[in-house]
Amino acid sequence: MPNLSIIAAAGMHNEIGFHHHLLCHLPADLTFFKTITREHDIVVGHRTWDSLPTRPLPHRKNIVLSKNMALSLPGATVVHSVEELFHVIDNEKETFIIGGESIYRLLFEKTTTIYLTRIMGKFLADAFFPEIDEKKWQLESDTFRPQDEENPYDLHFQKWIRRA
Ligand SMILES: NC(=O)c1ccc[n+]([C@@H]2O[C@H](COP(=O)([O-])OP(=O)(O)OC[C@H]3O[C@@H](n4cnc5c(N)ncnc54)[C@H](OP(=O)(O)O)[C@@H]3O)[C@@H](O)[C@H]2O)c1
Repeated sequence: MPNLSIIAAAGMHNEIGFHHHLLCHLPADLTFFKTITREHDIVVGHRTWDSLPTRPLPHRKNIVLSKNMALSLPGATVVHSVEELFHVIDNEKETFIIGGESIYRLLFEKTTTIYLTRIMGKFLADAFFPEIDEKKWQLESDTFRPQDEENPYDLHFQKWIRRA
């Protein structure tokens, strides 16, 4: 079985994006994201890929989901379905689902770990993270980081594990 983890940053109402962009600039969360995903395979939706400032993300195998069979992206492996995705990922390694909304929802039930940065703010949004059902997920750790000059919101770095 694939070893899938989700990594996301969401506001207090599960907001994750607006007009194809992130909600706010949080260098502390970007550092966390880089540390956790570095040297791992990442899976990203085509729309989020298009919004990345650097493509591909370095030090990681970048796998892009798209239904467009003609799509070719320099530096990325393009797959067109979950079945095709499972053929290209390494079951021995942790693979990170990095969004956006449609890809989180597509792979949520197949995921065993969620790294969620809870941003303690409320945002105008058109993209949302799925609800984490505490009957199905256990909060393993929750590290608080207070806001500062560069990071204008309090953050909770949470790790959720799917219950057996
Ligand atoms: N806060 C966070 O942690 C975070 C992280 C990532 C993204 N985001 C935000 O999320 C928003 C984007 O989310 P989104 O849902 O609009 O876009 P998305 O999930 O990034 O990408 C959607 C695209 O993925 C492809 N796709 C979706 N389902 C597929 C399937 N079953 N099989 C094959 N390909 C499939 C399609 O590409 P084609 O059109 O090419 O077929 C689709 O248009 C943005 O606002 C972004 O900033 C937030």
